[in-house]
Amino acid sequence: AAIEFGLDAPYRIEYHDRLPSTNDRARELAADGEEDVVVVADEQTGGRGRLDREWRSPAGGVWASLLVRPRRPPAEVPIYTLAAAVAVARAAREAGVDARIKWPNDVLVAAEDDGRDDAGRTERKLSGILTEMEGEADRVSWLVVGIGVNANVDADALPPGATSLRAEVGDVDRRVFLQRVLERFAELTGEGADPSDILDAWREYAATLGRRVRVETPTETIEGEAVDVRLPGSLVVRTDDGERVVSAGDCEHLRPS
Ligand code: BTN
Repeated sequence: AAIEFGLDAPYRIEYHDRLPSTNDRARELAADGEEDVVVVADEQTGGRGRLDREWRSPAGGVWASLLVRPRRPPAEVPIYTLAAAVAVARAAREAGVDARIKWPNDVLVAAEDDGRDDAGRTERKLSGILTEMEGEADRVSWLVVGIGVNANVDADALPPGATSLRAEVGDVDRRVFLQRVLERFAELTGEGADPSDILDAWREYAATLGRRVRVETPTETIEGEAVDVRLPGSLVVRTDDGERVVSAGDCEHLRPS
């Protein structure tokens, strides 16, 4: 079951058969002063999702956390999360899946059957990203990008509404898959990269643009048509009261009205 690594990527890889959470291990390494490390586990016993949710992480997934120290202000961090979603979506496409991104960084696959599952969903979640950071006003100290991809796992070991690469196209070589994700991420965010290229790639894979959405922000609920993304990763929503620019929140795709 173990993943063998010999990645030709600019990160050191730390592999574990089992961990509570690769994000927690990466935060420990951050506290030890490390950088450019990827913590990978075959299985997580306490995987964490966004908004304090649990993230089910059976053996066979790609559970990985990337620790980097971008010399950028914390306000720019959302673009790193978008870059990670682009990298995962592209690797999933290379594996033969019609992967699309729901703002800001969930990777979804259109439901195949009659288009809707029992809960009326039209899309199932293949991957999620949990970004954590610490920093001053002008400079990030460390950034942990936690990437969870339901790879070689049975869909019935996952929560309702989730899918896996195994369920969509069959098992993949996780080493190759993660290598592609890391190389693409490094390319999109490395020295001299242009953040607007990340937005362009995101737009190309977007599931959210052109759709009716409901976004729960920390302070309000916004409903309307998602029309664009803009730096540092905000969603532009056309509502009855005009355009709104949303920088953080939980986004749900609504059926066309
Ligand atoms: C979400 O969609 O809610 C984000 C899920 C993020 C899961 C990954 S798996 C690797 C890393 N370690 C964790 O505990 N969480 C992230």
